Amino acid sequence: PLTAQANPQGHLEVGGCDVVELVAQFGSPLYVLDEVTFSQACRDYVQGWHDHYPGESLVLYASKAWNCLATCALASRAGLGIDVASGGELYTALMAGANPKTIYFHGNNKSPQELAQALEMGCTVVADNWLELTRLAELAVNQPPGQPKPRVMLRLTPGIECHTHDYIRTGQLDSKFGFDPQELEPLFQFGLNHPEIDWLGIHAHIGSQIFELQPHQDLASTLATWFAKAARLGLNFRELNVGGGLGMRYVEADNPPSIGEWAQWVATSILQACKAENIPLPKLICEPGRSIAGPSTVTAYTIGTRKDIPGIRTYIAVDGGMSDNPRPITYQARYTATLANRILETPDTTVTVAGKHCESGDILLKDVELPNPQPGDTLVVFGTGAYNYSMASNYNRLPRPAAVLVKEGNASLILKRETYGDLLRQDVLPVGLA
Ligand code: LLP
Repeated sequence: PLTAQANPQGHLEVGGCDVVELVAQFGSPLYVLDEVTFSQACRDYVQGWHDHYPGESLVLYASKAWNCLATCALASRAGLGIDVASGGELYTALMAGANPKTIYFHGNNKSPQELAQALEMGCTVVADNWLELTRLAELAVNQPPGQPKPRVMLRLTPGIECHTHDYIRTGQLDSKFGFDPQELEPLFQFGLNHPEIDWLGIHAHIGSQIFELQPHQDLASTLATWFAKAARLGLNFRELNVGGGLGMRYVEADNPPSIGEWAQWVATSILQACKAENIPLPKLICEPGRSIAGPSTVTAYTIGTRKDIPGIRTYIAVDGGMSDNPRPITYQARYTATLANRILETPDTTVTVAGKHCESGDILLKDVELPNPQPGDTLVVFGTGAYNYSMASNYNRLPRPAAVLVKEGNASLILKRETYGDLLRQDVLPVGLA
């Protein structure tokens, strides 16, 4: 999907911009976000719901994948609401101009301040646990007069297993997220006892980087059953949120369904399940992150040192690493790479791409084929838009990279490169040490 190709200079072009020139202008490492790819993925989701679901629907951008002003603004402009998972993500979405009415606030341990902030702004809270429900009920009673009732959804743990990395699997019963389905009755009873809250519906999320469609179908029918159960108890929900989780292609072997296929499959499952349960069609919501942000972005690095260990391995080191992309060291995630300044040359050398951190595990790509990479080459890693910047750190006090938004040959800075001054911004030297 990425609009990446070779230009006449034999350089990699993204969004009509020469990546080698971008690095010359903005430095490296550099996240390069292709606006068309990001926005198209947003529109594919909206279109997918529209084409396959006759009821009302809404797509949220799971901003945890990459939360900054520009990404929230792009998603909003494409007609998406925003899923936020902290006060900081909420603040950013609001400052980006997102409509608070389509912001959904998630999290298994929202602070009382975060809950109050979300309600004050008129966002929907996706309640995760009993403590939160008690707090929400208190806040609801104390709402200033004339304020609409707080809108709340209930997050449930669906007990659905899927094949993905353990750390990003969330649907199984042994999970820190959501209410256990065994608590369904008391939960719905709580809803009935608290009419001061506008109970919108239920939510579940089964995990991330999922390629199979079956777990999504299982989730759809489970949610519809619970929806019907609530209705029988007299709690009339209106919304059903199936979470996110559609996987993306990182390496050749990855073969995820398209956004359209995913939407068709899920919408059809919900339709069938609602028919079977004989319930009216809810407003259908999903909240993808990775499949929107991930494919839109490449990270450009400058190659520094090269170490050849005869008969063993060749290491090349780049000017970033686990601080700008912690996914390989955290989840053994795999990526593909190329040399942006020599895109047309044939890959003939197997190398391992290391970062510059003081940690042996700081390896971005293991055993990749590149055209005999040398110091000074521009190495580009594909598909880094999701959970890279958002999980970036200052390990070894590396300033976080800059990011540019590219479209039709124009590049706009969306995140400034951190400076050493930024690194010291929160440091305080006690008088006795000065
Ligand atoms: N909704 C909820 C409630 C979530 O917890 C998540 C992701 C999403 C939606 C979006 O899922 P997506 O469409 O992006 O798969 N850091 C990990 C991924 C963590 C996912 C956390 N939750 C990684 O880098 O793979």
